[in-house]
Amino acid sequence: MHNTVLLQEAVQALNLKENSIVVDCTLGYAGHSFVILKNIPKGYLYAFDQDKEAIKYANNKLKALGNNYEIINTNFENLKEEITKRNAKVDGILFDLGVSSPQLDNAARGFSFHQDAPLDMRMNQTQKFSAWNVVNEYEQNELINIFYKYGEEKYASSIAKNIIKNRPINTTLELAELIKESVPEKYRKKSHPASKVFQAIRIEVNNELGVFEKALDSALELINVHGRVAVITFHSLEDRICKQKFKEVSTVPQELKKLPVIPDEYKPKYKVVANIVPSDKEIAENHRARSARLRVIERVW
Ligand SMILES: C[S@@+](CC[C@H](N)C(=O)[O-])C[C@H]1O[C@@H](n2cnc3c(N)ncnc32)[C@H](O)[C@@H]1O
Repeated sequence: MHNTVLLQEAVQALNLKENSIVVDCTLGYAGHSFVILKNIPKGYLYAFDQDKEAIKYANNKLKALGNNYEIINTNFENLKEEITKRNAKVDGILFDLGVSSPQLDNAARGFSFHQDAPLDMRMNQTQKFSAWNVVNEYEQNELINIFYKYGEEKYASSIAKNIIKNRPINTTLELAELIKESVPEKYRKKSHPASKVFQAIRIEVNNELGVFEKALDSALELINVHGRVAVITFHSLEDRICKQKFKEVSTVPQELKKLPVIPDEYKPKYKVVANIVPSDKEIAENHRARSARLRVIERVW
């Protein structure tokens, strides 16, 4: 029912055995988790999500396969504590980052600039801080900063100025219209001028880059020897974090490269095993796949 990007590739890359212990950090509507569970009939799955609607749907779907799973309703930034608390030794960890299609498609969640709704964009609906607070309470400089940093939006400055001038702004369409008016005519034709700013606000509301960075460190620490961590990203900011971290942990530090023999304890603990983008066919079937990338790393020792 829901298009899940890089589904088979990611599950395959985790190299599962029938008794593997797996963590899906982004359960969503259980596209990946369902296939993972099918592959680990004697194993166990821990699945994180912070969205109650997704959890309800996913639980109904997974129930059909048995009871060798637990859904953990919290932000995956708590990955280390939650898994350590359960004394679990983990063979595979998956991140499929971002918002799910149902979150995007449900106008009321306020993620879409095509459908009118209150400014919201919270993945965790119990959180107080929403897109409304960012748009109406941030200073001009803070807005410019997040539009540049998280949206790579070159008209950040004029958009921020216009926002400040027109406050309060209460709905997604009000904001989208205002963004359109803040950029030159020519720029409006490429893609919707609101897409980058909406992405930036969403990242800010959910602190998406901060929690991912923290959780990725935890995942690398938690994973068993020969275990794998797979990450699907949907924009270059997340991908950059993943790429840099994987590079850092899978290469010998520069200053040691000169040594004739690298001492065992300095040999990298991890090796990168995959870096995959969706096929043309998948992109044609699912527009959201066009910017997706899967990176996979394995713990060597
Ligand atoms: C792209 S969707 C995952 C789709 C899922 N792989 C599937 O096949 O249905 C991302 C999901 O992760 C959740 N999510 C994103 N960031 C999260 C975080 N920091 N902590 C917990 N859940 C998060 C979102 O609520 C959303 O349901």
